Amino acid sequence: MNSQELRDKFLSYFKGKNHKIIKSSSLLPNDPSVLLTTAGMQQFSLYLSGKKDPLEDFESRHLASCQKCFRTGDIEEIGDDTHHTFFEMLGNWSIGQDETGYFKEGAIEFAMDFLVNELRLDKSRFYVTVFKGEGGIGKDEEAIDLWLKQGIARDRIIECSKKDNFWGPVSDIGPCGPCSEIHYDRGEEYGCGRPDCGPNCDHCKRVVEIWNLVFMQYNRNENGEYELLDQTNIDTGIGFERLLSLLNHKNSSYETDIFKDMIARLEGVSQKKYEDNILAFRVIADHTRSAIFLAGDGIEPSNVGQGYVLRRIIRRCVRYSKMIGIENDVGLGDHVISKYRDVYPELEERKSMIYDIIEKEEKKFEKTIKSGLSVLERLIEEEKDNKMISGEKVFDLYQSYGFPFELTEEIVKEKGFGLDKAGFDESLKKHQDLSRAGAEKKFGGVGKDAGVEGAKLHTATHLLHTALRKVLGESVQQMGSDINIERLRFDFAHNQKMTPEEVKKVEELVNEAIKSDLIVKKEELSLEQALESGALAFFKEKYPEVVKVWTIGNPETGEWFSKEICAGPHVDKTSELGHFKIIKEESSSAGVRRIKAILTKE
Ligand code: SER
Repeated sequence: MNSQELRDKFLSYFKGKNHKIIKSSSLLPNDPSVLLTTAGMQQFSLYLSGKKDPLEDFESRHLASCQKCFRTGDIEEIGDDTHHTFFEMLGNWSIGQDETGYFKEGAIEFAMDFLVNELRLDKSRFYVTVFKGEGGIGKDEEAIDLWLKQGIARDRIIECSKKDNFWGPVSDIGPCGPCSEIHYDRGEEYGCGRPDCGPNCDHCKRVVEIWNLVFMQYNRNENGEYELLDQTNIDTGIGFERLLSLLNHKNSSYETDIFKDMIARLEGVSQKKYEDNILAFRVIADHTRSAIFLAGDGIEPSNVGQGYVLRRIIRRCVRYSKMIGIENDVGLGDHVISKYRDVYPELEERKSMIYDIIEKEEKKFEKTIKSGLSVLERLIEEEKDNKMISGEKVFDLYQSYGFPFELTEEIVKEKGFGLDKAGFDESLKKHQDLSRAGAEKKFGGVGKDAGVEGAKLHTATHLLHTALRKVLGESVQQMGSDINIERLRFDFAHNQKMTPEEVKKVEELVNEAIKSDLIVKKEELSLEQALESGALAFFKEKYPEVVKVWTIGNPETGEWFSKEICAGPHVDKTSELGHFKIIKEESSSAGVRRIKAILTKE
C-alpha cells in the first residue's frame, strides 16, 4: 500500500462513519504560545475545551483529518528509523457528547475495525496500553474492559504510568486526558529477545506504536491542576509514516514510497549508495521535506521562533549534502512537491516562493561557511608544525562565525590534523555556564546569530522588570528568568493575577522605553558599589566581588529606566529590540507569577 492509498483509506473509512473530513491546518498554529503544530488536535483546541461548538463551524461533532505536524524535539534524532521533523498525523475526533457522540467504546471499536478489517492487521499481534492511575486520577478499568471485549488477551493489555499514558496538553494549559495506545508486534526477527520486551521497549523496535486514543476529559489549568471538563472528547492520532512502514514491512519510512524517489535521486547525483551513507541521506531527505513544508506555510528563516527552526533545518541539510559531495541544488524540492501537491495544493501554488526562501538561506549559509573557512585555513597554516587545532580556536570559529563543529572536524581531518574535541566541549560548557549565570539557556546551532536574539531578550527582560515594578509596585521581585530562541520567561513575586489593563500598561512602558532609544551601558563595579547605585540584584550570595551593572537610560540627562546586576549579554541600544509583546501571564507557583513575552518586528 502506498502513502496516497493509506491516506485515502483512512479518510474514506471515517467519512463512511459520518465524520466530516477537515483540511490540515497550517504548521503555524493560531496559539502564539505554541511554536509549531505538533498534533492533529491543535486546530480543534477551542472545541475540545468546550469554548466553541463544533456543530456551529463544522456541522458535525465527528471529525477526521490528515494533519501536517512538526516536532522540533526530534531534530538531533533524525537519521534513525522512526523519527522525523515534519510528519503527518491521521486522526479522528468526537467532540462533546449528544446522542450521536462517542467516547471510549466508540473510539476503540473504530480503531479495531479499521486496523483489522480495513488494513488486515493481525489482531493477535496487538498490545494495548492503558492508564494505570496516578496523581488522583484512577486506573482506566473501563478501557481494560473494552479491550477485553474486543478480544485482546488480558496479558497483552499493559498498564502504564502518566508518563506514557496521559496525553497533553500541547502547551502548559489545555485539554488533556488518559490515553490508550495500540502497539503492533512485528515479530521475533525484529526483537531484542529479552523476556520483558514489549511496548515501549528500550532495546529494540520489535513492537511499534501505531495509534494513540486520547480520552480527553480534563483541562490542565494555570495552576497545574487537572479539572474535569464539562464534556468528554475523543482525540486520536496515528503517526502516518510509521503505519505506512509497518504495512509495507519496512523498518523505516525512508524505504517507503514517500522518500524513494528522493533517495534514488541522491544516489544518482552523489554516486554514493544509500546503504553506505544512511545518516546523511536520511537527514537530507527529512530536512528537504520539512523545509519545503515550513516555507510553504510562509515561515522565513530568522533567529527566533519558527524561523530559527527553518534556518537550522536548511543549514543542517546543506552540511549533510556537502558530506556526500553535493554542492548544488539537485532538484529534490520537485520530488517533494510532486509527491504532496494533491494533498497539500498550497505547495504547488507557492512553489516559487518556497524555492526563493530556501535558496536565499542556502546562499547566506554558504557565505558564513566561506568566511569561517578562510579563518580555518589560516589556523591550519599557523599550526602546520603541531598539526593540532586547539579546542578554544574551534570554539571561536563556531561562536563567532557560526561555523559548525562537524565541518571543522571534517576539514581538519582531511588535512591530517588533529582537533581537541575535549577542549571544544570545555569551551562550549564554559560559555554555557556563563550564559546561565545570566539566566540564559544556550542556543543550539548557529551560535552568534542566535546570541544577538538572546541579547535582545535579555535587555527586554530588564525593561520588563522595571515596568512591572512601576505598574505593580516595588514588591515585585525577580524569582527566575529563562530565555530561549523564541521568548523570554520571567517569574516574579506577586500575589494576584495581573489584570488585562496592568498587562497592557506594562507592555506600553516597555515599548515606550524601546522607542526612546535608550542606551545600554555596562560598568564593572564592586558588589557594594553596585547595590549602592540602586542596581537591582538577586541571588545575592552567588555574586562575585566585582559585578557587571547594566544601565539602560539616557546618558545625556543621566536619567535611567533600569539598572541591574547581570552577566549579560545585552544589546547596545533599546531601539534594536523591535516590538515587545506579552503572550502569557500565568501562575508559576504560590505567590509567584510568570510572564512569557516575545519581541516582534512590529
Ligand atoms: N493528540 C494525541 C497525539 O498527538 C492523539 O492525536 O498523540
